[in-house]
Amino acid sequence: MIRVVFNQKGGVGKSSITCNLAAISAEMGYSTLVVDLDVQGNSSMYLGYDIHSEEALTTGTSVANIFKQRRGLLSTKQPPDEYVLATEHENLFLLPASIELEAMEKDLESRYKIYQLRKALEQLDQHYDRIYIDTAPNFNFYSKSALIATNTVLIPFDCDSFSKQALYNLIDNMMELKEDHNEDLRIEGIVINQFNAQASLPALLVEELKAEEMPVLDCYLGSSVKMKESHYRQTPLVYMARSHKLTQQFIALFEKIEQIPPGSFQLKDSAAQTETASAH
Ligand SMILES: Nc1ncnc2c1ncn2[C@@H]1O[C@H](COP(=O)(O)OP(=O)(O)O)[C@@H](O)[C@H]1O
Ligand SMILES: [Mg+2]
Repeated sequence: MIRVVFNQKGGVGKSSITCNLAAISAEMGYSTLVVDLDVQGNSSMYLGYDIHSEEALTTGTSVANIFKQRRGLLSTKQPPDEYVLATEHENLFLLPASIELEAMEKDLESRYKIYQLRKALEQLDQHYDRIYIDTAPNFNFYSKSALIATNTVLIPFDCDSFSKQALYNLIDNMMELKEDHNEDLRIEGIVINQFNAQASLPALLVEELKAEEMPVLDCYLGSSVKMKESHYRQTPLVYMARSHKLTQQFIALFEKIEQIPPGSFQLKDSAAQTETASAH
């Protein structure tokens, strides 16, 4: 199961949502991979890997190598899994971004390598229960590759009127890509992020989207300084503040998209705690 988190607007919560849903998925017991397709490397950083570090620059362990290999630029032929890193969290894996992505983009695009990610992900999909893909705030070669590689898209929406305009443009672009390259592409849901229940504009904007029959997911994410703290500590919320309101909202969102009954995560969680206690 592969999900892309995409919105061509920056700062709407793509990386935060990708990593927090992936962490909950891992805690739920699913072997979960995060693929970071944004050259900024925010998801990689959030999961403890700095794409500007000496290590990253020398080892070449990144999603860029998958493209290089498929472009015939590497002498060895390795399965895509070889470029995946374990994180410090159980069941959670990372295929990091690379600063090389930007320089490679034009060449890949001119050589029509747009279907290559799909092929690599078909292989990875056999190894992992869930794959979450983070994208750049651009409808660029990599975002398009991701939207061709999977049928399921989550669109974060951060409740301002610019976001609403961006959403229409995004849906237009997606529909065009769907027609040309991937007829099974569908929006799994619009994720309402940084929803402020006290203000009237967010509720109004969300009501407008619903009235237009946009697929708004009914579990809204609020705004909390915990999110910034969690980025700073490079630790997704479920590991850092399990009972925090925002973490619980992420869990509810996860249960919704997974179509499992509300409370499933907590049940699993308490069963795991009982197991650990009896093992001691
Ligand atoms: N629910 C939230 N509450 C508070 N801050 C948030 C929330 N979601 C995102 N942010 C903050 O907004 C900024 C942009 O989020 P990010 O996930 O990097 O967006 P994107 O990947 O779309 O650019 C970050 O500083 C992040 O900490
Ligand atoms: Mg991001």
